[in-house]
Amino acid sequence: MEIRLDGKRALITGANSGIGAAIAKELASVGAKVAVNYISHPETAEQMVADLKNQGKEAIAVMADISDHVQVEQMFSRLDDEWGGIDILINNAGIDGVKSDTWESELDEWQKVININLIGSFYCARQALKRMVPQKNGVILSTSSVHELIAWTGHSAYTTSKAGLSMLTKTLAQEAAPYGIRVLALAPGAIKTTINQDVWNNQAGLDDLLDKIPLKRIGEPSEVAKMAVVLVSDVASYVTGRTIFVDGGMTDYPDFAHGG
Ligand code: BGC
Repeated sequence: MEIRLDGKRALITGANSGIGAAIAKELASVGAKVAVNYISHPETAEQMVADLKNQGKEAIAVMADISDHVQVEQMFSRLDDEWGGIDILINNAGIDGVKSDTWESELDEWQKVININLIGSFYCARQALKRMVPQKNGVILSTSSVHELIAWTGHSAYTTSKAGLSMLTKTLAQEAAPYGIRVLALAPGAIKTTINQDVWNNQAGLDDLLDKIPLKRIGEPSEVAKMAVVLVSDVASYVTGRTIFVDGGMTDYPDFAHGG
């Protein structure tokens, strides 16, 4: 079975680093046109686009802060102008936020996480669906996390945002299904990116993390990206309204390999 997404117009938010960059490259490798959204480091977005174009792929870089609905509207208008619309939205941009017990957290830090991870994803999904519903076709895939399920001390905004994303996914899937549109989420576990670098780049942090992963290794961004390609492709044509976990078994609670 070969997956091809030739000519499909894909927007990936937060696409100039980590999992988003891996998804953008993987989508381009199977023929999709990719819009690389970014908020900081324009040079890395431009470099990615240049590299993809050198490989004969179609790519554009689009700056937008997804937590600002005006900028999101402008980003989608740009896609309308460039490509006449959108077929695939990868709602990927997100932050872990500042680690802090909730009673000590700063309101603006807490809200920032919700504004980007959840409300930003909603803004993008809303604009995407405005275009996908009339064309009766499209897929939305959001990057959730194992923490839509697993509580995480010091990260209540993050866990809340991802749990919210899970229900947003289910509800949008139900609303859009009559139009042939699928809405899914993908929940990575610990994947080797800069977001969790401070954990895996020291031995104690790494050991603690590996204890939480039955497969006993950190995942690679490409392992998430390949699953993303499967999920937005027709291979997954009968899958909607669900979160698919790509976590090396983290949500299998390895502590229960003993005791209980
Ligand atoms: C977070 C990472 C963390 C992983 C496992 C992800 O959602 O972004 O920082 O390492 O979950 O806890």
